[in-house]
Amino acid sequence: MKEIKVFAPASIANLSCGYDILGVCLDKIGDEITVRKTKKKGITIKKVSGQKLSTDISINVAGVSATALLNESKVDCGFEIEIHKGIKPGSGIGSSAASSAGSVFAINKLIGEPYSNKELIKFAMQGEMAASGSKHADNVAAVLLGGFTFVRSSVENDYFKLNTPIEIAFTVIHPKIELKTKDSRAVIKDKVSIKNMIEQSANLGAFISGLYTEDYDLIRRSVKDVVIEPLRSVLIPKFEEIKSASINSGALSCGISGSGPSVFAICKGITTANKVGEAMTKVYRNLNLEYDIHISCVNDKGIRILNYE
Ligand code: HSE
Repeated sequence: MKEIKVFAPASIANLSCGYDILGVCLDKIGDEITVRKTKKKGITIKKVSGQKLSTDISINVAGVSATALLNESKVDCGFEIEIHKGIKPGSGIGSSAASSAGSVFAINKLIGEPYSNKELIKFAMQGEMAASGSKHADNVAAVLLGGFTFVRSSVENDYFKLNTPIEIAFTVIHPKIELKTKDSRAVIKDKVSIKNMIEQSANLGAFISGLYTEDYDLIRRSVKDVVIEPLRSVLIPKFEEIKSASINSGALSCGISGSGPSVFAICKGITTANKVGEAMTKVYRNLNLEYDIHISCVNDKGIRILNYE
């Protein structure tokens, strides 16, 4: 294999009750990343389209994660990367994760797959570190493993996949303002009260149980965030209105997607997800605020090959 093109999907991190721990992989929206082998050693980013981003490999997250992989694997060639961004940076649906994971997934295939997708998470996380100043693996784990994912410890590289209830669908609305993860992390406090710790961990445990027992009502009761959402929601236009509109139109729950500004609603069934999308758009249409809307089932496979030669 000399060249490969992959589709690196968007993802929702946190899912309200699992800050830096939970993620889910989305369908359809994502980045397309082409990587080809070169005689010249090292990484080059030849082209970025779709969004204006640096081609400097120490700045562009795809270059950062690819360099981390190369530093460890010591291969005898180099790689040229082309990125078509389908996800807007700073949107809260894992733009940096898609590019960070995409380049290492593609390179791993070109060098005969010495790493499992789970092992690639640690390289992809270096891209996240470059983008946000923190090594959180929740988005990259979802992209590389697919479905709902759990980060037990990014220090110990301990990640796993959770069950996906068949009818789960997501609605995501992205108000067209950019909110950098770094800035959105800066508003979070270091300390959590015991009361909130109990409530948040109870919801996290209940949510995971709900995924396995396919108990949609338990999922509805547990997708809640008493720690992070109150601090971050003020950064998102009309967050409370979007949330009420979603729940009133049938969403199981609604919260901030990753570090925002996108807002997600978790729904039972794609028909409900579409209805929720209409209700969400009404809120922003009345405000004259530009937005994107995405309706998606859970992408249980995660990142995938588009073609190769
Ligand atoms: N868990 C991270 C955060 C996701 O909420 O900051 C960022 O994409």
